[in-house]
Amino acid sequence: MINTKIIEIDPSKLEEGNLEEEAKIKECSEIIKKGGTVAFPTETVYGLGANGLDPFSIKKIYEAKGRPSDNPLILHVASIDEVKPLVKEIPEVGFKLMKTFWPGPLTLVMEKSEVIPREITAGLDTVAIRMPEHPIARGLIEASGVPIAAPSANRSGKPSPTKAEHVIEDLSARVDAIISGGSSNVGLESTVLDITVEPPVILRPGGITKEMLEQVIAVVSTDPALEKDHQDLVPRSPGMKYTHYAPKADVVIVKGSDEGVIAKINGLVAELTAEGKNAGIISTEETKAQYSGGLVKSIGRRNDVNEIASNLFTILREFDETNVEVIFTEAIEETGLGKAIMNRLLKAAGYRLIEAI
Ligand code: TXA
Ligand code: MG
Repeated sequence: MINTKIIEIDPSKLEEGNLEEEAKIKECSEIIKKGGTVAFPTETVYGLGANGLDPFSIKKIYEAKGRPSDNPLILHVASIDEVKPLVKEIPEVGFKLMKTFWPGPLTLVMEKSEVIPREITAGLDTVAIRMPEHPIARGLIEASGVPIAAPSANRSGKPSPTKAEHVIEDLSARVDAIISGGSSNVGLESTVLDITVEPPVILRPGGITKEMLEQVIAVVSTDPALEKDHQDLVPRSPGMKYTHYAPKADVVIVKGSDEGVIAKINGLVAELTAEGKNAGIISTEETKAQYSGGLVKSIGRRNDVNEIASNLFTILREFDETNVEVIFTEAIEETGLGKAIMNRLLKAAGYRLIEAI
C-alpha cells in the first residue's frame, strides 16, 4: 500500500504561467526523478508515468496496473529533438508526421536505440514514442528532464481513464501521485503507427485517423488483425490482443438501419427483461427516446464523433456501477474517428455484433 497524493492542477492556469500550478508540476517531477509513479492527464486518456530510462521505475508501472509484462509501453517526450537519442534513425516519413501531428494523439513506432531499457519494449527491437499536447503532460515531461513511460492509467482490463476519478478508483494506494486535471478531451487512446515498414501500418486506430495520415504520407495500411473477421491473426501491437475495455456486463453491438437497430434492440431487451435480467442500452441523442425498456444512456449526437469518442469510456464505467447484465449498443459509422470508436466497442463486446435488417 502506497500513500497516494492527489494533486489538483488547473491546465489553463498552468498555460498562463501561474506559479502555484508550476510548483505543483515541479513537485510531481521530483517524484518521477526519484523513481516514483505519477498519473497525469493527456489529451487522449490519463497516463501512468515513470522515468522511461530507468528499469526499476518502469517495473512499478507494470505492478500498479497489473499489466502483463509482454505488453510494451509508450515513451512520452516534450519535443521532437528528444526523439533522436531514443531511436536508431528517424525515417523521412517520421519527420513529416511529427511536424504535422505533434504534439497530439499520434504514437510512432521506430527502431529503438541502445538507451531504451528492455522493460519499455517488452523485448521488441522497436519503441513507441509520442509527444502529448496536454499542458500538464508536457509540463511534467519538461520538468522531469527524461522521457516518461506511460501506459493508460487504468488497472489492466478496465476501460482507459478519461477523468481523474477513474484513475483514483483504479490506482489509489498503488501509485505515488495522481494529478487531477480535468477530462481528457479526445477520450480514446492515441493512434499507434508503425513507421519501420513501408507503407506504414496502423496498429491501433485513434485520434489521428487514416484519412488524416494519408494527407501527409501517401499510403497507410491497417493491421489486418484489427478487423472483426481476422480474430485468428496475432496483432502486431501486443496490447491489442488483450480483452481491454471489458465492462462487467456482456456487450452486444447492433448494426443496420436506424429503424432496424431500434426494433432489434427493443426486442432483445424485452426478451431479457422477461427472463428477469437487467438490460442496458447505449443510444445516441437522436434515438434515445425510442427505446421502450432497459437502462438507456446516450453517448452523444450522431454527427459529433468527437463527443461520442469522449463519452465512450465514461459510459462503460458508469454501466459497471449498475446491475445491468447485458448492454446493447448501436453501431457507429466507421469513417474518420468512428473507426477508432468501433474498434474499442468491438473489443468491449468481444466482437459480438448482430446485423439488424
Ligand atoms: O493515448 C495514449 O497512447 C495513452 C496516453 C497515456 O498517452 N497511452 C496508452 O498506452 O494508451 P497503453 O500502454 O495503454 O497502450 C500502448 C499501446 C499498446 O497497444 C502497446 O502494445 C503498443 O502501444 N505498443 C507499445 N510499444 C510498441 C511497439 N514497440 N510496437 C508495437 N506496439 C507497441
Ligand atoms: Mg491501455
